[in-house]
Amino acid sequence: MNVQDGYPPSSYGESFADVYDDWYADVSDIGATVATLGTLAGGRPVLELGIGTGRIALPLAATGTPVVGVDASPAMLDVLQTKPGAAAIVAVEGDMAALGDAPGLTDRGPFGVVFAAFNTFFNLPSDQDQADCLEGCHSLISDDGTLVIEGFVPPEGGLTDGGISVRDVTTTTAVLTVSKHDADNQLIHGHHIEMRSDGNTMRPWVIHYRTPEQLDASAAAAGFVLDQRWADWRGMPFDPAVHDVHVTLYRKVSSP
Ligand SMILES: C[S@@+](CC[C@H](N)C(=O)[O-])C[C@H]1O[C@@H](n2cnc3c(N)ncnc32)[C@H](O)[C@@H]1O
Repeated sequence: MNVQDGYPPSSYGESFADVYDDWYADVSDIGATVATLGTLAGGRPVLELGIGTGRIALPLAATGTPVVGVDASPAMLDVLQTKPGAAAIVAVEGDMAALGDAPGLTDRGPFGVVFAAFNTFFNLPSDQDQADCLEGCHSLISDDGTLVIEGFVPPEGGLTDGGISVRDVTTTTAVLTVSKHDADNQLIHGHHIEMRSDGNTMRPWVIHYRTPEQLDASAAAAGFVLDQRWADWRGMPFDPAVHDVHVTLYRKVSSP
C-alpha cells in the first residue's frame, strides 16, 4: 500500500496534538538546539520544518532570531498559537514536501538556516517526499545558508520486526505502542494506543528512516554537501560506532 493513501501529511500532527507537549517536552536538548541554531543563523531568518507546537521555535524566537515554521497539521499549529511568544513566529500551514506551495513561505526567505529537529524529516513517508522536501529547502536557503537535520541512526544489525511495548501506565490509562517494520522500504508503521475506561484513542505514525549516508546522498542530489555531522546539538563529534542520533549540517553548493 502506498503510505500516502491512508496517511496524509497532517496525520501525525492531528493524532498527537493534544498530547504532544505532555509526551515529548523532554525528547531533546532544547537549550543546546536553540543556542546552535541562533549561532548558525547570525540574525538571519530561520525556517523550521514541522514546527509543531513550538517546542524549539518558541525559545528560539525568544532569543530574537526571526522564526518561520511550516506544519501540515492545523491542530499542532492551533496549540502553538495558544502559547506566550507565538505572535513572534510566522507559522504557515503546509506540506514540507511541497514547500513552494506553502502560502507566503517563499516571500519570507531566503533563510539563513532551515532545520528539521527530532526525526521530523523521517515523517516524510517516501523517498520522493524526502527528495521534494530537500529540493524545496534548496530554493529557500540563502547561498551561504545551512540545512540542519536531526535524526536517529538505524542500528547496524537492523531494527526489530516491530511488536508491542508498554509506553506508559497510570491509574487511569495504559498506552501501548504497536509497530510493524518493513525493512525493505525502511518504513515503520505504528500506533500509540491510549486505553481508558471511556474508550481508546489510536494515534498512528509512520517513519521512513534513512541512514546518515542515505541522507547525504539525497542531500547531494538536491544540491547540498555534507558540512559537519555531530552527535548532539553541542557539536560533539559523531562516531557511528557509538552514537544513535546525529545532527547533520549541510551547505548549499549547486542547483539540484
Ligand atoms: C515529531 S513532531 C516535531 C515537532 C517539533 N519540530 C518538535 O521538535 O517538537 C513532527 C511535526 O511534523 C509535522 N509534520 C509531519 N509531516 C509533515 C509534512 N509532510 N509537512 C509538514 N509538517 C509535517 C507534524 O504535524 C508535527 O508537528
